[in-house]
Order: sequence, then C-alpha cells, then structure tokens
Amino acid sequence: MDERAALVEIAERAARAAGALVSRDRPERLEVLRTKSSATDVVTAMDTASEQLLVRVLREARPQDGVYGEEGGAAGGTGRVTWVVDPIDGTVNYLYGLPSYAISVAAVVGAGPAGSRPDPATWTAVAGCVHEPVSGRTWTAVRGGGARLDGTPLPGPADVELGEALVGTGFGYTPQRRAAQARVLAAVLPLVRDVRRSGVASLDLCAVATGWLDAYYERGLQPWDHAAGALVAAEAGAVVRGLDAGDPAGETFCLAAAPGLAQRLGDLIAALDPLAEEPAPA
Ligand code: IPD
Repeated sequence: MDERAALVEIAERAARAAGALVSRDRPERLEVLRTKSSATDVVTAMDTASEQLLVRVLREARPQDGVYGEEGGAAGGTGRVTWVVDPIDGTVNYLYGLPSYAISVAAVVGAGPAGSRPDPATWTAVAGCVHEPVSGRTWTAVRGGGARLDGTPLPGPADVELGEALVGTGFGYTPQRRAAQARVLAAVLPLVRDVRRSGVASLDLCAVATGWLDAYYERGLQPWDHAAGALVAAEAGAVVRGLDAGDPAGETFCLAAAPGLAQRLGDLIAALDPLAEEPAPA
C-alpha cells in the first residue's frame, strides 16, 4: 500500500474511533470546561476527550508524526507528516443535541516547524477524513486520488450561475467578526438561490464535494476547520480559494465551488472586503 493510502486509512480509523466515543458518551460529557475567543466559543469535556483519543490512535499508528489539535495545540513530532485534527467540528450543535457535527482528521506535509501552529500557506494536505457520527457518513480524500463518500467517488459541484447557487457559509464567535460577516451576507443573500449555515465547516466543504451545496465561503477558519474538508472538496473537483492568503491573525478566508462560480462569488465577496473587521466597541 502506498503512503497516502495508508494515511487515509489511519485518518478514517482515528475519526471513527473518536466518532464512536463522542456519540455514545454525549450525555456524560457535555460540561463546558472553558471558553475561547468569546463567551459563545465553548470547549466541552468531550472536545478534550475526543482529541485525546485522536492523539492516542494517531501516535500509536505513526509515533514519528506531529499532531495539532483544536483543543490542545501542538504535540510535536520529528516526521514529515503533521496531523491536523478537529475533535468535534460543530461543538455548538453538539452541545444542543443537533445531529450535525463531525470529526475531522487530515495528514499534511510542510506544515512548518515541529510543534508550531501549522500554516495552510505552506502545507500540502495529502490525506483526509471527515466523519459524521450520527449519520455514519464518512468522506475521505487522498491527494491525486479523488474524494469519496462512504467509498463512492464524488461528482463535485455543478458550475451554476450565482442566481441558481445554494451557498453555505459560517460565522465566527466575536461580535466584530459577526458584524463584518453580516455585511457580506446581506450583499450575497439577495443574489443567490439561498444560503445555509450548518455550523460545521468541515461538513460544508464536504457538502460542496457531494453537490449538496453549490458553494461555501467563510472568513476566519482555523487550520483544523478546513484541513480535511478542503482536500475533499478539491479532490472532488471544486476550486478551493483563499487558504493561502492568511491574514495577520493567522486565520483564513475560504471559498469552495466549481471554477466559474468560485470566480463569480469570489469577485463579489472581494469587492466587499471580507477581511475588514468592524471596530471593537470603545
Ligand atoms: C466552527 C464550525 C462553524 C464555523 C466556525 C467554526 P467548532 O468550528 O466549523 O461552522 O462557522 O467558524 O469555528 O468551533 O465547532 O469546532
């Protein structure tokens, strides 16, 4: 088996193990341990438990690799590969009992110095898995080897006009970020078929790959939100733009769609300056 095929198999094994834990033990592990960027950006006991399990499975399989997770930051390694993991993408859905949340596991190379925050501007994602435990759906992708949903190759998104596009987006957690995102949304919404906000960036990217959304965009994604999903979308044939244009905060603007729509939606959003934050209240 070549290395990429082995990596995607490990990614899927880790994501399924974490998914089983997260869905089985939800009632006991809902305690909010702390908040991050704002009071609405929470970490549950299960986010931490799921990340510990992911680190254990990945380290057992490949002790030389680094692992970079949403909740624990970096665990260094000396190998070429870094695993970028989100133990629960869609934590707010999970907290409320909504069935849509996912475990995201990506293997990337060129992530930067061991132990530091991996940089999407330099990394190449080589294998990835996004697993939705409640539905059991599992998206996988290998660089150069296509993307699959439960083993079936994905068609990718259709190249439709803006007015026919079902567009997914997401929102950050600070009031300043949300005010800026609302401004962009107010300009996009009248021009498209409709807008969806699932609360799970990795699944939004997989939805583009599957043809369930025509496009997805969001400002302010973190590495663990997009590492696996962006590879799935790109390998299904979507253009994934913006991930290499990180802003000074190290966050990214991401847009995924078929090439023509990516251009049209990207031009529209760029004209609105999606990187402009509202000033913080005095
Ligand atoms: C969040 C989700 C959400 C997106 C946010 C992310 P989390 O991740 O992916 O859809 O809009 O930007 O932070 O906090 O649930 O892991």
